[in-house]
Amino acid sequence: MSETASLTHQQWLDEVYDKLLAKMKAECARVGTNIPYTTGRDGRYHDITETPWGQNGSVGFWTNGFWPGMLWQLYEATGDEAYRAAAVGVEDRLAVLLESAETVDHDVGFLFLHSAVADYRKTGSPDARRRGLLAASLLASRYNIDGRFIRAWPDAMAGMTERFGGGDIRGWMIIDCMMNIPLLYWASEETGDPRFAKIAAAHAKTAQQYVVRPDGSCNHIVAFDPETGAYRNSPGGQGYREGSSWSRGQAWAVYGFALSYHHTHDESFLNTAKQCAHYCIANLAACDWLPLVDYRQPAEPLKYDSTAGFCTACGLLEIAEHLEENEARFYTESALRILRACDAKFANWDPEQDAITTGGTFFYHDPDGSNTEVPIIYGDYFFIEAILRLKGKSIFLW
Ligand code: GLY
Repeated sequence: MSETASLTHQQWLDEVYDKLLAKMKAECARVGTNIPYTTGRDGRYHDITETPWGQNGSVGFWTNGFWPGMLWQLYEATGDEAYRAAAVGVEDRLAVLLESAETVDHDVGFLFLHSAVADYRKTGSPDARRRGLLAASLLASRYNIDGRFIRAWPDAMAGMTERFGGGDIRGWMIIDCMMNIPLLYWASEETGDPRFAKIAAAHAKTAQQYVVRPDGSCNHIVAFDPETGAYRNSPGGQGYREGSSWSRGQAWAVYGFALSYHHTHDESFLNTAKQCAHYCIANLAACDWLPLVDYRQPAEPLKYDSTAGFCTACGLLEIAEHLEENEARFYTESALRILRACDAKFANWDPEQDAITTGGTFFYHDPDGSNTEVPIIYGDYFFIEAILRLKGKSIFLW
């Protein structure tokens, strides 16, 4: 039994919150406006442009908004100006991405919701608002009218998609995009123009129909004919194989559909979020609340992805917000079980070392193991969001 296992949920939460404040204060002082993704061999974060995910000085990697997201969360919780200053510094670095429509992808939501839009929500900065609306316009422009979905990756990333099935990617939609469309809901809420939200809701309806299976499991990718919008097939993507159940994709579905409900009040989105949540909870409960990389992976080798757990927990907490106390308790309790299991196995609270969590896995088929069970910045983001939500100290960034 781990040393925290005997604590009540509240005691555990209070302890984790204190450790979080100490760790993030030290990390913010060390990292500042550098953009971290994972730690290097030295156990330290390095700016993305010094790593394989930021070649030629690119700041376009899809995870580059999570560090400013963490900083805005901590600014909300503590009011410490150091967090705001570092977050705005990173936002300034990301602004260059808005100049190249051909290289951005559906993840423009992850990049700008947690940088410019977070800044605007918290400070009202007109520059940040302008950046957020430009990002929303780029995301909206990826909409395929006949297929009623947002295209995932651009041709510029065709090489990367080879490992997920490859071929003609013009008609690909992926479950991950459910977490990006809140940028469109925000743009409509901000401008009063319903076009953005209508694109988001249409995409979510298509995802409900083609991505989510009747048992609450999900495809990662669905391919349509880019000309007619007709369904083609469902490549395996980042999970174990076609027809399996990639756990982070499941997390994107739980949280993503809950967020579409948050913004539209369309009950069908809440029902889909619950359907996917129950599927995840059943699988997590069978594995001591620790997320496998794919809920349908072989028993050996045993591979985890803690990031799926942290994101699923945030989705469950979002679902709980929309329910009566009696029903909400099941989701909150499940979220706490995931968080506590992942904390016990994957957290490192030493303020002298970078990264709070390890155990993050980018994709199942990892040729050299360098993307398997490692610290990944979005694991930390969702852990922080979950803790601050439970403490009543979070800012809503979706
Ligand atoms: N959005 C890509 C991933 O979840 O790995």
